[in-house]
Amino acid sequence: MSRIDALLSAMTIEEKIGQLNMVASTRAVTGPGDIREDDGSIRAGRIGSVLNLWGASDVRRAQRLAVKESRLGIPLLICHDVIHGHRTIFPVPLAEACAFDPHLWEKTARVAAQEASEDGITLTFAPMLDIGRDPRWGRIVEGPGEDPWVASQIARAKTIGYQGSDLASRQCIAATAKHFGAYGAVTAGREYASAEVSERTLREIYLPAFAAAIEAGVAAIMPAFNDIAGMPMTINAALLQGELRERLSFEGVVISDYNAIAELLNHGVARDIVEAASLALKAGVDIDMTSNAYLEGLPVALSRGLISIEEINASVRRVLILKERLGLFENPDRSAPPAVVTDATRHERRSLSREAARRSIVLLTNKDGILPLLNDIQRLALIGPLVDAREPMLGSWASAGHEEPILSISDGLRQALPTCHINVVSGVTIDGEGRKAIDEARACAQKAQVIILCIGENAEMSGEAASRVDIGLPGEQQALAQAMLSLGKPVIALLTSGRPLVAPWLFERADAVLATWSLGSEAGAAIADVVLGRFNPGGKLPVSWPRHVGQAPLYYSQRPTGRPTQVGVHYSSCYIDSPATPQFPFGHGLSYSVFTLHDLVCKTPLIKLNDRLQICVSVRNESAEAGEATIFFFIRDLVASVARPVLELKGVQKLYLEAGKCENIVWSLPARELAFVGQNLESVIEAGDFQIFVGQSAAPESLIVECFKVIL
Ligand code: NOJ
Repeated sequence: MSRIDALLSAMTIEEKIGQLNMVASTRAVTGPGDIREDDGSIRAGRIGSVLNLWGASDVRRAQRLAVKESRLGIPLLICHDVIHGHRTIFPVPLAEACAFDPHLWEKTARVAAQEASEDGITLTFAPMLDIGRDPRWGRIVEGPGEDPWVASQIARAKTIGYQGSDLASRQCIAATAKHFGAYGAVTAGREYASAEVSERTLREIYLPAFAAAIEAGVAAIMPAFNDIAGMPMTINAALLQGELRERLSFEGVVISDYNAIAELLNHGVARDIVEAASLALKAGVDIDMTSNAYLEGLPVALSRGLISIEEINASVRRVLILKERLGLFENPDRSAPPAVVTDATRHERRSLSREAARRSIVLLTNKDGILPLLNDIQRLALIGPLVDAREPMLGSWASAGHEEPILSISDGLRQALPTCHINVVSGVTIDGEGRKAIDEARACAQKAQVIILCIGENAEMSGEAASRVDIGLPGEQQALAQAMLSLGKPVIALLTSGRPLVAPWLFERADAVLATWSLGSEAGAAIADVVLGRFNPGGKLPVSWPRHVGQAPLYYSQRPTGRPTQVGVHYSSCYIDSPATPQFPFGHGLSYSVFTLHDLVCKTPLIKLNDRLQICVSVRNESAEAGEATIFFFIRDLVASVARPVLELKGVQKLYLEAGKCENIVWSLPARELAFVGQNLESVIEAGDFQIFVGQSAAPESLIVECFKVIL
């Protein structure tokens, strides 16, 4: 008999339900309520996993209670949100998406897994794969941005990065793809709100990244808090069973979100905790995160016949299989014996963080090539509330990163320019009301050759429960910025934020603006690298950057309308008070190099289902700076039975080009990837005419185009 069968036959009902029960430690607070770990419950087998616990001695203690002092000795799953690093913090996910580099995404996840594992963690609630098209939603910072193709690449890279090829290895932890459904589609960007998403859009936009994570072997999935058209994801059997288990063949563990099962009562779909627990279990949620609903509700539900013992067994089996795959029965504590983290390893991890950070920076504007700054600059003024800030550099999920050194913007610039006179004034707070220090900032700036304006959001202004209706600069920062812009000196603005910030006046008047997001432990060093030209920026926006909050949700992959947007044409799809185009399109990001595209040729003007589309294009570096170009490949299906988007991303290639050099690139796509969700909601490919667009962003005027035909 296998270990799992033997355990299942030895377990009492209470012990079985215990395996489905996750409680929180007090080490970090990531949600409401006080369902906490306690020694007695671990000993009694009433707790199967612990959330927010890390650190060798605490994990060892908890595992000892489970393994040595409980009747069946089943180890605990130790879980934590390791989202963009554990001790060494990497850029927030939205920022890291700007690198458009799966190797980088995988490497940072691997280091995060190693550090988490060294601290006894066995499972992370990442990658977060929610498509974000509405920057009011605070959690846009945690995700891949607006595009399902990019999200799928991230899903794969992160899953492989966290999990490696062997979950039992001490270098790896189990990953959880979240938040299954369409969390990013919350109405009006308001956190936890209901989503209205058609089945076609769900399949086409929101679910592909989950399919990619499953294909890459992701161990767990977390349903979203919110409902889709009245069905909370926690009990959405059609999606959790029909889509996840059946169509996508997911065999891993489904973990509810924090307290989500108890919150079914607030959704108004369950009368009491017994009903909530039975609906969630029946829908396929294996583990109850911190709501106590399974512990309280399942025994009663079982006695009333609302659920069966087979349903409980199936969930328990999945949990035990995961514990077995993680090697926890043999080695319940990954932090023992303690890993030796040498200075060299620490240095490598910090270097990777710096590398990831500089590759995440997006140069939004650069008038007259003001950047990079000359390295012999003598007098700099660093103005703004984020100049000396450290915690905001880390971003929304930084757990043990707070215990490690963090480089602020001024740290980075001072280290890089040891002989430059750098004066620092915050001027205003991030979101407070005072403008008192603006005069002081003005006086300081007047003495400088260049002003570096460090403005934006703090880490709490994005992330969970941090939706905003006004996505401009908070507090009095606009007043501070305007005071600096009116001095007649060069102004370089660094935008720290977890979302695109609306500030058309800034883009218009500043000499250069960089999106520096929250870049992690090495933020300051990475920013100095880019500002001083020691690293040529190549980050590209994974989201369309709005001009006005009223444009949200905004994304490049619009469906065509019968009256396409035409400036100056009344009966066309426009706003009367703003251009419909974004401030910066998806894929936008300048470099100190200038690249041009030429000679696009479609080598396969006619393809069949099993063929590959093949195209060639040449890329030239027209500048005197070596740099990295990012080339986007979009398609458009011109006539289909369902209106297809005006542009759909199908691939990205990056290449490094020396100054003045030109290279031909070949890109190909299996014809099958032209499939879409047809009229009957199944995947179809239809014969007909297509266009292939190649460019450096999704700005329509910058794209070059060729045609091809698909025949069946
Ligand atoms: C709630 C969040 O929605 C989820 O992403 C996170 O993993 C859990 N809290 C646990 O902290």
